[in-house]
Amino acid sequence: MIKDIAETVDYLHGKGFENPEIGIILGTGLGQLVNEIEILKEASYNHIPNFPTATVEFHKGKLIYGILEGKKVIVMQGRFHFYEGYSLQDVTYPVRIMEKLGIKTLLVSNAAGAINLNFKKGELMLIEDHINLQGNSPLAFKGVEHLGERFADMSAPYDADINLKFKSIAKANDIKLHEGVYASVVGPQLETRAEYRMLKILGADAVGMSTVPEIIVANHLKLKVAAVSVLTDECDPDNLKPVNITEIIGMAEKAEPDMITLFKELIKTL
Ligand code: HPA
Repeated sequence: MIKDIAETVDYLHGKGFENPEIGIILGTGLGQLVNEIEILKEASYNHIPNFPTATVEFHKGKLIYGILEGKKVIVMQGRFHFYEGYSLQDVTYPVRIMEKLGIKTLLVSNAAGAINLNFKKGELMLIEDHINLQGNSPLAFKGVEHLGERFADMSAPYDADINLKFKSIAKANDIKLHEGVYASVVGPQLETRAEYRMLKILGADAVGMSTVPEIIVANHLKLKVAAVSVLTDECDPDNLKPVNITEIIGMAEKAEPDMITLFKELIKTL
């Protein structure tokens, strides 16, 4: 992997991706943040050596380098999911690349179902901690110790200072921002009623199919990390309706302006 990383980084340096300070992974519900960036360079995932190729059709699949609120940022427009058949090493490969390019902070967004029924669809949740239910680890491979500590510390995977800032920004802008535990499942099927009950018992406030592998690798690389979920559906096992993906995506889009405000205001302070 070390040789692959060097090759990918060389390619991106050649493209002018120089010294980004902040990495951003745009999940469902934050795609429009791209319109706020002064874009300096772009690279399609399928042109970047050793990158997994994009498959999920509603993601554009490119790496963007530019200026946001005066800061040099590198943005992943579209992410890789375990459920698409990639390994967790592939899913998290771009995080390793962004770190090698120079980022010190990683900001992540996603769409998630609300397990905590005090949280409503369309609202946002700051991830305060997580539960990895993907049955695997992005660090479980031969040679991981050459890239960082094998037994990576996960006692505080989300940066407390950034989370405090997010909360004060939300307050100042009248944005409802819950705080809670995100559980990551493999997907792509949604959960059964029994699984939603289980997730609640386990202590999850929200459930989704991404983010945790990226956060684990970011911690492996000792980056500062923070993540926000847009809650797109309410996972009430006693009133569960058939899933409607169009509605889920629509709900994510509805919350997008709030998510964009949070991210932009936060970046100003970094
Ligand atoms: N479960 C898993 N992933 C999700 C959900 C859900 O209910 N909603 C949005 N992403």
